[in-house]
Amino acid sequence: MYSATTLVTMIMAILVMVTISPSLTLWVLVPAPIVAVAVWYFGKTIHDLYEKIQAALASLTARVQENLAGVRIVRAYAQEEAETRAFDEPNREYVSRNIRLIRTWSMFMPSLTALSGTSFLVLLWQGGHQLLRGQISLGALIAFNGYLAVLVWPMIALGWVTNIFQRGAASMGRLNFILTAQPSIDDRSATLAKDSTPVGEIEFRDLTFAYPTTLSGANGSPGAGKSNGSGAHAVLCDINLKIPAGSTLAVVGPTGCGKTTLAALVARLWEAPEGTVLIDGHPIQHWPLEALRRSIGYVPQDTYLFSETVGGNIAFGLPGYHSERAREAAEIASLHGDIQDFASGYDTAVGERGITLSGGQKQRTAIARAIVRDPRILILDDALSSVDTQTEEKILSGLRRVMRGRTTILISHRTSTVKNADQIVVLREGRIIERGTHDQLLERGGYYADLYQKQLLEEELENA
Ligand SMILES: Nc1ncnc2c1ncn2[C@@H]1O[C@H](COP(=O)(O)OP(=O)(O)OP(=O)(O)O)[C@@H](O)[C@H]1O
Ligand SMILES: [Mg+2]
Repeated sequence: MYSATTLVTMIMAILVMVTISPSLTLWVLVPAPIVAVAVWYFGKTIHDLYEKIQAALASLTARVQENLAGVRIVRAYAQEEAETRAFDEPNREYVSRNIRLIRTWSMFMPSLTALSGTSFLVLLWQGGHQLLRGQISLGALIAFNGYLAVLVWPMIALGWVTNIFQRGAASMGRLNFILTAQPSIDDRSATLAKDSTPVGEIEFRDLTFAYPTTLSGANGSPGAGKSNGSGAHAVLCDINLKIPAGSTLAVVGPTGCGKTTLAALVARLWEAPEGTVLIDGHPIQHWPLEALRRSIGYVPQDTYLFSETVGGNIAFGLPGYHSERAREAAEIASLHGDIQDFASGYDTAVGERGITLSGGQKQRTAIARAIVRDPRILILDDALSSVDTQTEEKILSGLRRVMRGRTTILISHRTSTVKNADQIVVLREGRIIERGTHDQLLERGGYYADLYQKQLLEEELENA
């Protein structure tokens, strides 16, 4: 509304000025193109500078956030001073960019005022001559001067608006980058009904997968979720594997062999090439993402808890808080006993990312969170690594009970965890090198049998 009033005032003022003296109007508008160029130039400079300031602020806050989250590591390694120094550099960069912006801004306004001032000088010069020559009356000249003054204010306002607009545009550009980003994993190819639930048969068919962001470089461009599925640095190669619905598959293998990757592809956290991962015989891309993920209970290798109550963390995947179901899940995960010892039971807050819980308690909370949803497919990615073998045995027998008729993928470094699985595969450098049941693999005398003997020996030594 305000800008409409200003615009109408400007147009009216120019019309009246033209009526008083067309030639004088042309003269006083001579600086106008220069004003336009100045506004464009300063606007662009302010925009660029402000974008850089925002980027500097982002890296500064990222640094602060990282340091606050990792404050224990920083202290444990006595890196307080080094980190303070490391903060100093982006901080200075931020200040210097701000100073540059303020300098530009401080030149912009005086330049605009000076340019609009030249219009008055031109008026005095040309208007004076015309007055002396009798081409214009003194009253008309004074009236003209008054209308010019009306025109000057919008010019100054234009400066302010340019500044605000360019800052806003720079911020909006950054926001739009996120707001308009298209997820690369979506329901584009979903053909099955939204409310369909998988029975739980999983199949990997000639699966070869490479991360788009490979650490070894060379292959692919950055960007989450997409993969050409092949390439020089394939993490998984020629995987052919069928997990019948209701059975348990165990995956073992040395660190970095691709176990987590295999599990992540089932939950579609990364995109496998079309037709290489199938659920109930349908390519995974045909399942609506929500239906797929709703039916999977996924316990990732790195436990993540929210700064909530322990009960709230367990019931995370449920539409509402069901204390009874949370309790049942905690019992299966062998966590109920621990929770009973907590001051407020299930209402005990676990602190930021579960800081007040032990590693094993955190892991068991994550297991309870996965089973509370009553999933068709349960994926445990090294999810028993922080519990002792007795607790592990208890959890596994509880899981066997609830997972009857459901599919389980069990990833572990311990043979004790996987020995009862229906099918065990050994991965090495992304390939399946052994497969079979515990007894078959022991008979085969390969990697698994070696691992079993070593771990048996370790256990015996521990118990001795
Ligand atoms: N997001 C990622 N981007 C690029 N490469 C990755 C990514 N995640 C894992 N990798 C690489 O893929 C390979 C397999 O990793 P993965 O996590 O599947 O191994 P793993 O068998 O689960 O190991 P661990 O037993 O240590 O958990 C590794 O070489 C790793 O560097
Ligand atoms: Mg892993």
